[in-house]
Amino acid sequence: MTTERDTIHGEWAGRFTFFLAATGSAVGLGNLWKFPYVAGSSGGGSFLLVYLLCLFLIGLPLMMAEIMLGRMGRRSPVNALRRISQIHGHSRLWKWLGVVGMLIACLILSYYSVIGGWAYAYTVRAASGLFMGQTMDGVVSLFARFASDAEHLLAWHTLFMLTTVMVVSRGVKRGLEFAVTWMMPVLLVILVVLVIYAVRNADVYNAIAFLFHPDFHKITPDVVLTAMGHAFFTLSLGMGAIMVYGSYIGQRSSICGLSSAIIITDTMIAILAGLAIFPLVFSFQLEGIMIRSDPGLLFRIFPYVFGQMPAGILLGTLFFVLLSIAALTSAISLLEPAVAWLVESRGMTRPHASAWAGFCVWLLGLVSMLSFTGLNLRDMLTAVSAWLGHYSPMFEHKFYSQSFFTLIDFMTAKLLLPISGILIAIYTGWLLKSDVSKQELSMSNWSYQCWRGLIRYVTPVAIFVVLLNATGALAWIIRLINN
Ligand code: TRP
Repeated sequence: MTTERDTIHGEWAGRFTFFLAATGSAVGLGNLWKFPYVAGSSGGGSFLLVYLLCLFLIGLPLMMAEIMLGRMGRRSPVNALRRISQIHGHSRLWKWLGVVGMLIACLILSYYSVIGGWAYAYTVRAASGLFMGQTMDGVVSLFARFASDAEHLLAWHTLFMLTTVMVVSRGVKRGLEFAVTWMMPVLLVILVVLVIYAVRNADVYNAIAFLFHPDFHKITPDVVLTAMGHAFFTLSLGMGAIMVYGSYIGQRSSICGLSSAIIITDTMIAILAGLAIFPLVFSFQLEGIMIRSDPGLLFRIFPYVFGQMPAGILLGTLFFVLLSIAALTSAISLLEPAVAWLVESRGMTRPHASAWAGFCVWLLGLVSMLSFTGLNLRDMLTAVSAWLGHYSPMFEHKFYSQSFFTLIDFMTAKLLLPISGILIAIYTGWLLKSDVSKQELSMSNWSYQCWRGLIRYVTPVAIFVVLLNATGALAWIIRLINN
């Protein structure tokens, strides 16, 4: 018999399993690639400071809020928000926050899967010894050929989505829980092996200087936005992944303790990834190539690096297995909100729901995939208007030469996640009565007041100011006031 607090999807075996699952969601391509690169090129230690501020002033309170909403609602984000707002007499419109979150998750997953597919492909390539002894030009052209070969990309993107769907379709216990309990320890062991290798054999001094040396001149509004966007992205906040995982936790877990542990682990893994990657980059004098950040960089630099090392086949394979695991444990958290919703509201079985959601995301992913082979927004809009029967030449803007991938990446990480973060903060901080959140979070009075102060004032205002600042609106307002 189901009680009010039951979830139809099952519960995590315990606190630690939730911790593994949430960390699995948080630790992904963002940590292994984006973080070390962004930190290094945006001011090292001073970027780290801004980033840590974002983590603790924005990330922590929001993560607690999301887990709390999930655990209160015990449903997919859409239904959890609908149910909570119904019980507490708030507008029914709040469920749309869940709907938008679910759609953002699918959007992110659509390109995440393409890159996850690259990681699979490169695992096979590394294991086959293809990279051994290659020159830099050799691996660059290998990647260029790979990324423009639509058939290969399609196969790997499909395989990645299939594995994601397979895990999710087996349910919370036999699917998600099973996957994270063996994958997360493997991930940690591989990462530690790679760090030990890098620290013992490569240029660790330059790497540490690059990662941690503070350079305050590089802190521009855009860098602050990047730090905040990255905090959202890496913690999987703003679209219901953590919320849906929160809805499978048992009642007696400290949300504050769990959230802090997840954030600290995520940050440590990002720093370890930096320590595994950058010493190699400096030893092989590849830092010049690092200036351009695009998702393919990882797949251009590392095959070369591993191809030059005696144990290259083994280390290279381990590296790409690491990347594949990190991508997969994040991808399942991106699909779960939609699947949970389909099961609850459309009465589908889990395998059926996973297949449907997976198929839609896969289809969307084709556009991202083609954008890596050269398709840009201009081509897409031209095709659409031709299809509609009236070709109207659009005004020229450099925006149109961007790829669909760049557009989605910008829209999600830097715009939609922060905006939905503000709404979650407003909902939990201002609308939800304090006795409700106090009881749910069950913290000491003092820590509760800290959380409440942060989520009511600091978090939404900080996000808002960063967004205004980065769009240039803040400068405009200041000028207006001064005149
Ligand atoms: N956090 C993952 C990473 O660092 C990506 C991710 C998983 C994500 N779930 C998310 C990002 C939800 C935003 C929202 O790669």
